[in-house]
Amino acid sequence: MGTHSLLPLAVALLGLLSPCVTRLTPRVSFLMGSPGRHLIRFSSPDVSNTTTLLLRDDGDVLYVGARDAVLELDVSHGDAITLKSKLDWSPSDKDLEQCSMKGKKMADCPNFIRVLQFLNTSHIYACGTFAFSPRCTYINSETLTMSSKPDEGRGRCPYDPYQRNTAIIVDGELYTGTVADYRGNWPVISRHLSEGRRVDLKLDDTLGWLEDPTFISSTFIPDEEKIYFFFSEVGREYDFIDKFIVSRVAQICMSDVGGQRTLQRRWTTFAKAQLLCQADSELPYNVIQDIDSLPPAQGAPADDTLFYGLFISQWSVNSGRSAVCSFRLADIKSVFSGNYKVLNRDTLQWSTRVQEKVANPGECGLHNASDNALRFVKENFLADDSVRPFGRSPTMVSAEHNYSHLRVQRVQAANSRDYTVLFLLTESGYLHKVVLLQSGAHIIEEIKVFEQSQPVKNLVLSIPKAVIYVGTSEGVVRVPTANCSFYWTCAQCVLARDPFCGWDPASRACVKVSDSQISLGQDIDRGNVEEVCNSVSITHRVRFGSNKLPAASCPAGELVSVSLNEVVRLQCPAASQLSQQLWERPNSRLSSDLYLHLGDGSLSFVATPTTLGHYLCLSTENGYQQTMAIYHVKQRSSPMAPTSYTRHHTHALPTTQSVARPGPGLHMSGGVWPNRITTEQGGTEPTLSSGDTQVTTRQLGGNITLWTLKSGQKEDEFWDREPQLLARGPCYLKELVVVSVLLVLCLSLLVTLLLYVFKQRCRRRTVPQARTPTRDSDRRTPVEQEAFRENQFQSKHNGQALQSGQASGLVCNGAFTGSNGHLPNTPI
Ligand SMILES: *[C@@H]1O[C@H](CO)[C@@H](O)[C@H](O)[C@H]1NC(C)=O
Ligand SMILES: *[C@@H]1O[C@H](CO)[C@@H](O)[C@H](O)[C@H]1NC(C)=O
Ligand SMILES: *[C@@H]1O[C@H](CO)[C@@H](O)[C@H](O)[C@H]1NC(C)=O
Ligand SMILES: *[C@@H]1O[C@H](CO)[C@@H](O)[C@H](O)[C@H]1NC(C)=O
Ligand SMILES: *[C@@H]1O[C@H](CO)[C@@H](O)[C@H](O)[C@H]1NC(C)=O
Ligand SMILES: *[C@@H]1O[C@H](CO)[C@@H](O)[C@H](O)[C@H]1NC(C)=O
Repeated sequence: MGTHSLLPLAVALLGLLSPCVTRLTPRVSFLMGSPGRHLIRFSSPDVSNTTTLLLRDDGDVLYVGARDAVLELDVSHGDAITLKSKLDWSPSDKDLEQCSMKGKKMADCPNFIRVLQFLNTSHIYACGTFAFSPRCTYINSETLTMSSKPDEGRGRCPYDPYQRNTAIIVDGELYTGTVADYRGNWPVISRHLSEGRRVDLKLDDTLGWLEDPTFISSTFIPDEEKIYFFFSEVGREYDFIDKFIVSRVAQICMSDVGGQRTLQRRWTTFAKAQLLCQADSELPYNVIQDIDSLPPAQGAPADDTLFYGLFISQWSVNSGRSAVCSFRLADIKSVFSGNYKVLNRDTLQWSTRVQEKVANPGECGLHNASDNALRFVKENFLADDSVRPFGRSPTMVSAEHNYSHLRVQRVQAANSRDYTVLFLLTESGYLHKVVLLQSGAHIIEEIKVFEQSQPVKNLVLSIPKAVIYVGTSEGVVRVPTANCSFYWTCAQCVLARDPFCGWDPASRACVKVSDSQISLGQDIDRGNVEEVCNSVSITHRVRFGSNKLPAASCPAGELVSVSLNEVVRLQCPAASQLSQQLWERPNSRLSSDLYLHLGDGSLSFVATPTTLGHYLCLSTENGYQQTMAIYHVKQRSSPMAPTSYTRHHTHALPTTQSVARPGPGLHMSGGVWPNRITTEQGGTEPTLSSGDTQVTTRQLGGNITLWTLKSGQKEDEFWDREPQLLARGPCYLKELVVVSVLLVLCLSLLVTLLLYVFKQRCRRRTVPQARTPTRDSDRRTPVEQEAFRENQFQSKHNGQALQSGQASGLVCNGAFTGSNGHLPNTPI
């Protein structure tokens, strides 16, 4: 039966599945309170909504804008975050009363601090929503006291605490993007605190500069003397669809002082362009959520600055997915120096300009230009081209994680090569650490940092201190960027592929790369354990009965006593969430007639004289195999020798959990590893408790592990004690096993089939151009189809359409690989 004849069935089954899952599984997951990722938290009953964060350059003090307060936190100590001082700043009862009389919820009326920026070496500038009547003030950063009476904060801070805004102070001037009215429909990008001949500037009030924007971020690029703003807004140039959201980058020049007659006290250098996070011919991820800049590597020009943006999609087919796209400063600059669309002020229609170019919009120094030129600027501020992602497609696409915030860092690995590491915050409260590899994104770990879903939150990364701060209404949490000592073997250290961590063979520990002078074992790109750990045979330290916590990757053996015909289930802990488990018996095969491999990696079988004996559970990850559990299943002794067995399994499943220590990949919620070996021998430790034993596990070219114990006769005694063959009991369960096995066979066939079709579908969905348009257009709503067509049109129009062959293949895990042209492109 060829696979193709199975397709109709598969198609029927596909209807039951949601769109292709681009699997990106975090290798290790830490729950709240997990000992492997000990977080330092600051929270206090009289402090809430600690969501605006400002870290001092030296990384020792964190200023926090909270509800009705500004806090100064001492974060210089590793073991605690302490409150140094607190500045209370709340609206009066009268203000609150007015706020609620205007119809606002009382819970939204306090003063939520939304702007917190260093003004100069001695002062901080802060603004708060102040009962829907924003106020700003200067705060002495030493004493944390206000050094002036608060003044009006209109245009600097939003009225509504849930409205996003952005603010940045450069050279003592405040640049902001926010709404400047109570109702929230007058958005502005403006400059404040200007002095002397420099005047405060804002956008011209005429329509079309901003269209219902959500401000995300602003950044200062010193080499350009420009401030860039990032936001999303309604894309009026796509007038054929209602409310098509586009993401934008806008720029203004710091030298701008407004026009002399035209555009007086208004920006003359404002220009905006679309940021397109889209693989060719895919629907765009059009709504920007967050963005962070990655300065160029040492010695590289400023043009190589990259902006890593996080996007979600407006379209229902991509609901719940997020994408990361990076944009190069050089590309942004070239779009701004190119052609501009022209706005017809009567019809409010955008069109590509045909008349002569009178000025170069976006060019610094335009404030000196003629009225004629400035009138031109007023109508030509939307760049014709879009800024496309560096590498032409998203850096990473995640189907299952709804990310909201992102920080990026360049990390020098042990081999002196630079890797890009992203910290991504999910809506559900996990911080993901992701390394970008040639083969795609690899999620090194995920750490739960808050419990409840958070409407307002923030991330701050301190590269010199190697920590990340998460500010939510639950408090401020400090997360070290890595905990290398969590990886307790060379294999774990290498498999993690964490650029921060490497294996020090001398101290036999996984250590921080930045702390180490010597060369460390690490393989970020391939995670090849055998090469790095320099071992065909890997020696594990086994501590039977030792109280030391995760000391060995090779586990203690466990004796499992069973009655004949009892159903035995042996657990196999996963080494990580990326590993696969495999069962082995020395000198015999696990025939599928007798053994059931369960979904959680455990093995189930009926105890018969043939199934008694030794079992090994192996875990395979990235081609490396390690022993996770060893069991000796033996028949429970006859009642003739009662004294040696005081504990009994009263249920069919033996207490195998006692050795099935969860691997690092499992969720660990603060529990303690079980570390005593439970045996049937009178409740005492087994004979193996005599200290450390060397177990050598050999990998023979993918063929399975030989395991021997090098020392200790007692151990040998333990392992070699073969079960006595007793009289065969009645065996009614054989039939059951046969039926089960048949069922399993059927199921595995089905699963294989699904996987096959799924794989096809994934490739077709994520390899740009490689999919038939029909099915996807069927799934799109008419509006989405329009958007899709327009974007296709746009890319062709801009002469930037890629051939399918050139498009970098984005395979299922969101990885960049060469496009896989030879894949069968079976029509479904
Ligand atoms: C790092 O992991 C080790 C081993 O699990 C643990 O003992 C230690 O507390 C962890 N450190 C931090 C800072 O999380
Ligand atoms: C403030 O925190 C509370 C929970 O303590 C939360 O419900 C509310 O949404 C937060 N408000 C803002 C504006 O962040
Ligand atoms: C910082 O700015 C404040 C407010 O304008 C001013 O009072 C103070 O003198 C400035 N400090 C320095 C060191 O310039
Ligand atoms: C993802 O998060 C955004 C907020 O950032 C929210 O609006 C959206 O509904 C979420 N999507 C899903 C599928 O949870
Ligand atoms: C532009 O205007 C600034 C003042 O706004 C002035 O100092 C400068 O000399 C002018 N430059 C030119 C080329 O006219
Ligand atoms: C694996 O082991 C079997 C015997 O158990 C042997 O026949 C086979 O050649 C081995 N394969 C490899 C790759 O070593």
